[in-house]
Amino acid sequence: MPEIKRIYIACDHAALGMKNEIAQYVKEMGYEVSDEGTYTEESTDYPVYSKKVSEKVRDDENSLGLLFCGTGIGMEIAANKIRGIRATVLSDTYSAALSRKHNNANVACFGARVIGIETAKSVVKAFLTAEFEGGRHQRRVDMINAFDKADD
Ligand code: RB5
Repeated sequence: MPEIKRIYIACDHAALGMKNEIAQYVKEMGYEVSDEGTYTEESTDYPVYSKKVSEKVRDDENSLGLLFCGTGIGMEIAANKIRGIRATVLSDTYSAALSRKHNNANVACFGARVIGIETAKSVVKAFLTAEFEGGRHQRRVDMINAFDKADD
């Protein structure tokens, strides 16, 4: 299992404060953090940031992605259009851990208008520290990954 070293992180204007706090939190956990924007509260378009982070995660097997917008939903929908990305909106630690252990999720999305910062921190921690279990779950993730190829 590749060791997770780098975390690519981004947000839109609705989630700037949460993204900044989580970036700091993740740095303190010992990960290398790459903040891909946005950097101001000026209104912007979440698909831009979702694509940016998803392409970095796709090209770096030692990484995971964290995306923040108002609900997390737009970021998730956009991220799942990128080849090799398995993204999920998260708001609880159980789903966060299982999304890694069973689904090998590589991007987690958060709604800054849905959950508070302390919940976000505990969910991020559960996501980053859980490991994919492989075995029967590998077969199912391979089936999902084959959908990418079916589009060629
Ligand atoms: C921006 O108003 C909002 O639509 C966006 O942050 C996000 O919630 C989209 O899914």
